[in-house]
Amino acid sequence: MPEAQRIDIVSIFPDYLAPLDLSLIGKARADGVLELHVHDLRDFTHDRHRTVDDTPYGGGAGMVMRPQPWAESLDYILAQDDSGAKPHLIVPGPGGARFTQAMARELARQPWLAFACGRYEGIDERVQDHARDDLGLEVSVISLGDYVVSGGEVAALAMVEAIARLIPGVIGNVESLLEESHEDGLLEYPVYTKPRVWNGRAVPEVLLSGNHAAIAAWRQEQRLARTAARRPDLLPASHGDQQIEIRLATPGDVPELFTLTRACWVREADAGGILDIPAITEPIETLLASLDTTRTWVARKAGRLIGSVRAERGGDTWHISRLMIAPDLRGRGLGRHLLEHAERSAPSCIRQFALVAGGGSEANLRLFKRAGYRRGLGEPSVPGLIDLIKRRRSGDQ
Ligand SMILES: C[S@@+](CC[C@H](N)C(=O)[O-])C[C@H]1O[C@@H](n2cnc3c(N)ncnc32)[C@H](O)[C@@H]1O
Repeated sequence: MPEAQRIDIVSIFPDYLAPLDLSLIGKARADGVLELHVHDLRDFTHDRHRTVDDTPYGGGAGMVMRPQPWAESLDYILAQDDSGAKPHLIVPGPGGARFTQAMARELARQPWLAFACGRYEGIDERVQDHARDDLGLEVSVISLGDYVVSGGEVAALAMVEAIARLIPGVIGNVESLLEESHEDGLLEYPVYTKPRVWNGRAVPEVLLSGNHAAIAAWRQEQRLARTAARRPDLLPASHGDQQIEIRLATPGDVPELFTLTRACWVREADAGGILDIPAITEPIETLLASLDTTRTWVARKAGRLIGSVRAERGGDTWHISRLMIAPDLRGRGLGRHLLEHAERSAPSCIRQFALVAGGGSEANLRLFKRAGYRRGLGEPSVPGLIDLIKRRRSGDQ
């Protein structure tokens, strides 16, 4: 396979996909970061009228897309690569799983995607079965949302837009991706540009302060308020969840904490290529003893241990570590909630917060960055890990 991510789109309206020549995606194609091909389904028909549809078995309104042109289009796409690689087939459809930012991130990591854009009442169901069972493709039916549009092209456009901007090299300023809506389950904060006062309306003062920690805190408050106002459905599992109890750990929490620590660190350690780390190798007795030397908090929901964090003082620095969230609950703002709890609990003599992040977890780095942490200067304290610091501001107490 070439280095660039490859995307093939099959449609009866290839012109509908012309916007993929424009803007960021057009540039990514021109730069060779993205290899995108649009195919006309009618090129895989053999009759004079280039027929792609027929009446539905069982009766009912509308027409259904015939399987044969679809199967031939897939054969053609597969034949474009002789390395044995296969595309992940995306079938846009209102009956699919709802497309999310998390899905876009996952799909952006895949080397080859193919989109089958249906029209009419959709594509004969056997095409998906054939792709999965006979061609060995991974097949996903994905919906833009709970409404019906007339064809899969607009869905493919939206998904390709969301996926392509996450492919390394497509967006110049990767930082802008970290702050966006849905990246950690919350909506983005309001944004402003020059002039400072426009039409009698001033930009919020904090944004002019130059105080990065204060700006990060203000933005987080805005994200929460905006999410609560516009998308309260996103909040329950997130920061505002009242049912989550956070308290200092006791020896009775240790057996479950031991298990959660292993569950959380194996993935990160595996990604970083180092399994020989204390979070994985330490015996339960060491974890128990750490309750005396650190402040360790546990988060429980309906009795279940879902997260933990700990902190200890070193001079005027509050070293925060072992921030963990049960793997099935990640991406909902709980990590941020626990991190803020640890920061708020720091003694008054603390001037800065410090964290060490593994390079293997992009999600953790995103979280710390959004919380106002920046890379420390100098060599990392542990090779391969990243030292992060944040100055304390008065509002953190
Ligand atoms: C009129 S729709 C067919 C709807 C189908 N009869 C149903 O009720 O599920 C025609 C095509 O538009 C696309 N489409 C419609 N709504 C969509 C949505 N919410 N998300 C993704 N694709 C959609 C699909 O490609 C679908 O095959």
